[in-house]
Amino acid sequence: MDILSRIQMHREEEQRLAWEGTFAEYLEILRDRPFVAQSAHSRVYNMIKDAGISEKNGQKVYHFFSDQIFGLEESIERLVQEYFHPAAKRLDVRKRILLLMGPVSGGKSTLVTMLKRGLEQYTKTPAGAVYAIKGCPMHEDPLHLIPQHLRKEFYDDYGIRVEGSLSPLNTMRLEHEYDNRIEDVIVQRIFFSEDKRTGIGTFSPSDPKSQDIADLTGSIDFSTIAEYGSESDPRAYRFDGELNKANRGMMEFQEMLKCDEKFLWHLLSLTQEGNFKAGRFALISADELIVAHTNESEYRSFISNKKNEALHSRIIVMGVPYNLRVSQEERIYAKMISESDMAHVHIAPHALRVAAIFSVLTRLKDSKKQGMDLLKKLRLYDGEIVEGFNHVDLEELKKEFADEGMSGIDPRYVINRISSAIIRKESPSINALDVLRSLKDGLDHHASISKEDKERFINFISVARKEYDDIAKKEVQKAFVYSYEESAKTLMDNYLDNVEAYCNKNKLRDPLTGEEMSPDEKLMRSIEEQIGISENAKKAFREEILIRISAYARKGKKFDYNSHERLREAIQKKLFADLKDVVKITTSSKTPDESQLKKINEVIARLVDEHGYNTTSANELLRYVGSLLNR
Ligand SMILES: Nc1ncnc2c1ncn2[C@@H]1O[C@H](COP(=O)(O)OP(=O)(O)OP(=O)(O)O)[C@@H](O)[C@H]1O
Ligand SMILES: [Mg+2]
Repeated sequence: MDILSRIQMHREEEQRLAWEGTFAEYLEILRDRPFVAQSAHSRVYNMIKDAGISEKNGQKVYHFFSDQIFGLEESIERLVQEYFHPAAKRLDVRKRILLLMGPVSGGKSTLVTMLKRGLEQYTKTPAGAVYAIKGCPMHEDPLHLIPQHLRKEFYDDYGIRVEGSLSPLNTMRLEHEYDNRIEDVIVQRIFFSEDKRTGIGTFSPSDPKSQDIADLTGSIDFSTIAEYGSESDPRAYRFDGELNKANRGMMEFQEMLKCDEKFLWHLLSLTQEGNFKAGRFALISADELIVAHTNESEYRSFISNKKNEALHSRIIVMGVPYNLRVSQEERIYAKMISESDMAHVHIAPHALRVAAIFSVLTRLKDSKKQGMDLLKKLRLYDGEIVEGFNHVDLEELKKEFADEGMSGIDPRYVINRISSAIIRKESPSINALDVLRSLKDGLDHHASISKEDKERFINFISVARKEYDDIAKKEVQKAFVYSYEESAKTLMDNYLDNVEAYCNKNKLRDPLTGEEMSPDEKLMRSIEEQIGISENAKKAFREEILIRISAYARKGKKFDYNSHERLREAIQKKLFADLKDVVKITTSSKTPDESQLKKINEVIARLVDEHGYNTTSANELLRYVGSLLNR
């Protein structure tokens, strides 16, 4: 569809959704759909809830966030369950400012932006509809028109609780424009829009000397004072501060703790009493979610100052640490790259993974647990199986440090280094080694890394590099086998047949000749030796495998190539060991003969077709693995 018809459709949609009527008519809407009168916090919560919630390994996953925020499921669950949900139920937390605290580039702004954009869309749906007094700069809740003494009755009738009093401006308009006939006041449906400054506001601190409180709470309109005769006439006031504009929705308070104190004090009464002071007027009621964000050091210095106690007690702090899962970190990079102008560049398989391994390592803290190291921890966190540890260990690890993930390398740094690698290489294809090299070079110019950290980080680069070496070797070796999975499966089936016969003291039958034969000890040993199983331990190992198979059978599960971690490793190593010489000679030959050349082309084609390489990165990979195998 062309853009012009899209624009037209959009306009028609807006017209379709628009509604305007009297207060009396609005009450009819509330009869049918009382939820329309919900508070700002409740609307935010319902928006999150309506997007869907699922559960994965006992962890709640909120779909609202899950296609843009990766690896922060635990923080988000806490955020929803300890803030949004109780706030929606009018519990006291809704009166607190929500302060997201976390390291740089850890997704705080992304989270807040999602809420804002989400609300803009949600107010266009039936479930998220919002109505306001027409012509009010603060899009005041029409129910504020109901006089205090009738609210109890209204509650009994409609089941809707009304909070907050009618603003000075609308009090005056009611009298002058509507002759005090509340039922005639015009109400309209509104749609949140940050651009149009409806229901969504953003406040960011600037120079404290020049910044005016008017940015928050509006200001006197000097051009109209003469007309209305007095500064305290609300018509001579512009209710256009961020707090005014964000009424009914949310306000983002960027870098809140960098802000001058006088701004924060305004928030005190707003958060506690639900109203704020503007100009010379009675307190103005406001219903909005205030989300602020800050980093840890600023937060620490803020709470260490006694003067801030009152404000501190009105803040709910939620940690937004870095993601600690390698696979999710990869997704973060992939997302950031797809949103950037590097989107056309070929990024070889595993390039993002090694970068992610590096970043996550810099964020992890050394555990005191016996036999645990950072690499094992990294694997466990990412849901991999690590021998000798289970999910109980994982839970314990997660509890060991409260501030894990609050420091380390941030995603933005990684993306910057990837883009610098792309520029340097002058070819639109980069691989894992390019990325690691660039990450390392960048550490020299990284402003906020101490000397010790730098050393530690350089060490992590080598760890990531070693991981990559393993991955690269496996990748090439797999590509050398015509059908890797099939070969592995055949070899395993063969091994299992022999193990079974061995344990049951049976004979095997040769599939071709039908002849009976003894289990092939040589074959079994050649596999077991790959993972260091001694002659003495072989019997126990074989029996353990049979037990595992029967346990699987009992549960009706299929025992396959992935069911036994160590067996899989042994099979893989055995396959690779058989291949090693071929791979080594082929990949490192300076003057490959015809058959080697043919093999190389075949492998490159397989890497391109089946494993996501392009010819450049596949050639680079082969060369690298050749040099590794010849070391
Ligand atoms: N867990 C995450 N999931 C998805 N994207 C993330 C995550 N963490 C960081 N990012 C990405 O990193 C970039 C920086 O994130 P963002 O600007 O939200 O961080 P921030 O916490 O606000 O940082 P700052 O403190 O520097 O303002 C964004 O492109 C964001 O999408
Ligand atoms: Mg930010």
